[in-house]
Amino acid sequence: MIVAIDGPAGSGKSTTAREVARRLGFVHIDSGALYRAFALAACQQGWVSPAGILPPERVAPLAAREVGAEVVHGSVVPRLEGRRLGDELRTPEVTACASKISAHPEIRNQVNAILRRLAAECEAGIVCEGRDMGTVVFPEADLKVFMVAVPDERARRRLLQQGQEVTAEKVRAESARLVARDTADSQREASPLRQAEDALVIDTTDLSFEEQVERIVAAARRRLDTVESDGLH
Ligand code: DC
Repeated sequence: MIVAIDGPAGSGKSTTAREVARRLGFVHIDSGALYRAFALAACQQGWVSPAGILPPERVAPLAAREVGAEVVHGSVVPRLEGRRLGDELRTPEVTACASKISAHPEIRNQVNAILRRLAAECEAGIVCEGRDMGTVVFPEADLKVFMVAVPDERARRRLLQQGQEVTAEKVRAESARLVARDTADSQREASPLRQAEDALVIDTTDLSFEEQVERIVAAARRRLDTVESDGLH
């Protein structure tokens, strides 16, 4: 079974998807982390400008870098040239670069191939989250979810997650960064962020974490029951 969760940055996808996967006994796949692995490779090579832009002649060499993934405690962890990656994927430099390099179809094809291979290997099921899981990578997903929340709430959650103080000024600045990233992710030509027509839309602005998780788990269980009873007939 494939559960595809999409939505803008800070909509609560990652933490929710991880918990949904845990409750269903599925593997959690964060596709953004794979884009970040390519972004880290580009940053380490000094291939990107301070604005995170990759020159055209570097796109093919970057796509050829050896990015892989392994399942650790139920979640997929990216590897670069065999080395397991962690916190180095979350720096502001890598975040800015990931948004830029993910606009290149060559990089998207590499990430999509890794994701589809992982899905084929995980027999129990996967909960995969990103921007184009339900629209491009797994259009046949059994359940598609699109998570949204107002920018100020997403900014507030981001700051809390980073252990920062939540002040009105910081919320405004983080909210502006999130909206700029949403615009770039939604307006690019290659697989823009958009809601699948058959997605279940969940606005998490006023929902608790538990409510978000429960809604998706309940929808997934309903879907599993249907798939299983169809299989019996
Ligand atoms: O979810 P995230 O912030 O870790 O994602 C990092 C970047 O990768 C983000 O700017 C958008 C991009 N991305 C994408 O284009 N498609 C995906 N399926 C996942 C992430």
